[in-house]
Amino acid sequence: MMIFKRIILGGCLIGASFFVACQSNAEEPSSEANQAQTSEAESDANQEDEKSLEVNEPSELALLMRSMYDKNLALKQDIKAGKIPESFPEDFLNIHTAQANENLNETFDALAKEYIANMEAITQAKTTEEGVKAYNAMVNTCASCHTIYCQGPLAKIRRMKIKDFESEL
Ligand code: HEC
Repeated sequence: MMIFKRIILGGCLIGASFFVACQSNAEEPSSEANQAQTSEAESDANQEDEKSLEVNEPSELALLMRSMYDKNLALKQDIKAGKIPESFPEDFLNIHTAQANENLNETFDALAKEYIANMEAITQAKTTEEGVKAYNAMVNTCASCHTIYCQGPLAKIRRMKIKDFESEL
């Protein structure tokens, strides 16, 4: 019985020390500085980011967010290669219903709609330039919502942008 209790207690302590993904990145150097860095520095920074993903009991929304992050990074590569997707993963629509760790309100709903609209806009792009523009607009919506709700991943989200094309747009 004692041992059993200890296991449960241990589990709780581990859980408590990991559940701060929304805050844990907040101390990162300013995103402006990050944006100016080379892609070499980018990969260093990405390693740091891995730590913030080690959360013990993520919410449905947090899991969805991780998958959006991964899939949209893959999308970034496609778009840079001139491949415009015909659709986006349907499970992204769960942003409207997924259960979160914090209380969300109408502002969240409005921004979630905007995010989905921006995902759709990417599929409408006719050229690589339009694709890049639409992709960056989508990342901006991730960032707008994250300035309000969950600032930890903000720097990492800003680094998702396609920068190489920006001067031409
Ligand atoms: C409409 C608001 C909104 C939009 C848009 C949004 N997020 Fe989030 N995101 C949240 C909230 C709220 C959480 C916290 C969820 C929780 O802890 O339950 C979160 C959590 C996260 C996390 C942390 C997950 C974890 O491990 O705990 C990451 C990473 C993330 N979002 C990335 C993204 C990316 C990438 C995009 C765009 C592709 C995006 N988010 C778009 C609101 C948003």
